[in-house]
Amino acid sequence: MESSETQLDLVQNGSGYDIEEEIKAFDESKAGVKGLVDSGIVKIPSFFVVPEKVVSSQPTPAHLQVPVIDLKDIRDDPVRHEKVIKEIRSALEIWGFFQVVNHGVSKDITEGMIEGVKGFHEGKNEVKREYYTRDVKKKVTYTSNALIHKTKAADWKDTLYFRMAPDSPRPEELPVVCRETTIKYSAYIRGLGDTLLKLVSEALGLNPNYLIEFGCAKGLKIMCHYYPPCPEPNRTLGSKPHTDPDFLTILMQDHIGGLQVFHQNQWINVPPIPDAFVINAGDLLQLISNGKFKSVEHRVLANHNGPRISVASFFAIYDRMCGPIKELLSDENPPLYKEVPLMEYITQYTWKEQDGGMTTLDRFRL
Ligand code: OGA
Ligand code: NI
Repeated sequence: MESSETQLDLVQNGSGYDIEEEIKAFDESKAGVKGLVDSGIVKIPSFFVVPEKVVSSQPTPAHLQVPVIDLKDIRDDPVRHEKVIKEIRSALEIWGFFQVVNHGVSKDITEGMIEGVKGFHEGKNEVKREYYTRDVKKKVTYTSNALIHKTKAADWKDTLYFRMAPDSPRPEELPVVCRETTIKYSAYIRGLGDTLLKLVSEALGLNPNYLIEFGCAKGLKIMCHYYPPCPEPNRTLGSKPHTDPDFLTILMQDHIGGLQVFHQNQWINVPPIPDAFVINAGDLLQLISNGKFKSVEHRVLANHNGPRISVASFFAIYDRMCGPIKELLSDENPPLYKEVPLMEYITQYTWKEQDGGMTTLDRFRL
């Protein structure tokens, strides 16, 4: 099959099966994937089926583990501080991913957030319907597969979305069931984001405030994913392979598992660790670090025993030009990317599989 061919093309090519109708009905239900599961389906609708191959989960080789970095005492102990900067540098160069423990966000904040997200997704359909929209300008939305018409296969998940910065929503715009928990969580994530961006700046050999002054922390989007249990988890994915369109992502995942990162030509599990956050570099960090820090493809397997809940917080702004940081360039390290208006980057953002193996960043290479 041509890599640019979508499920919709297949319909138009005469396979006879009306996926467009099916997607329309799905969308009009405003109940997401959870609605399908609640209706008792035992086979997944075709627009969720991964076309190329059956998905399988292999055990991760013991020597290939995403690094776990302990942030304890980094404020007061200069030796630990230096050590952590080195660990972050190596993790972002090699994996694009790491997990952090002892990050200072307490269990009541993280557990409260998971409970609130669960409460929304498992709450009354009447409430959820009010938020269901594909309008990307809204600050608070609930939807399933925001880009459903651009994809070959839809993801087995629903998402509650908050744009928390700049100009955060008024409290009353957030669903009651997760209002307080989200506002609190968001404040802590902004704090942790600042801490991490300082460490990442230092890991690049820059002044600690560099990335914050650059504006990396000005925008914060929070996506609260709900991956319902799937009757055929080997025929679809919870999240298709993608890289994140931001500078840095802070992900909280519950205990179910399924997140994988593509490393040395294979999918490696990112195992849930209690009270840890998964941190990864997004495309924009790869761009400004001139390719030093990697924005690596990752995906989420569909699960049998869920629901799985995760909360992904994305730090990014799109209202400026962006290119490799001048201080990092030299004769030995010439720029790999053009100066790009980030608005252009984000409107072009897509997945590799959607685009004949090209990543969005590839298009901005010199
Ligand atoms: C994302 C993402 C992973 C997860 O939202 O970009 O990669 O575990 N989420 O939900
Ligand atoms: Ni992601």
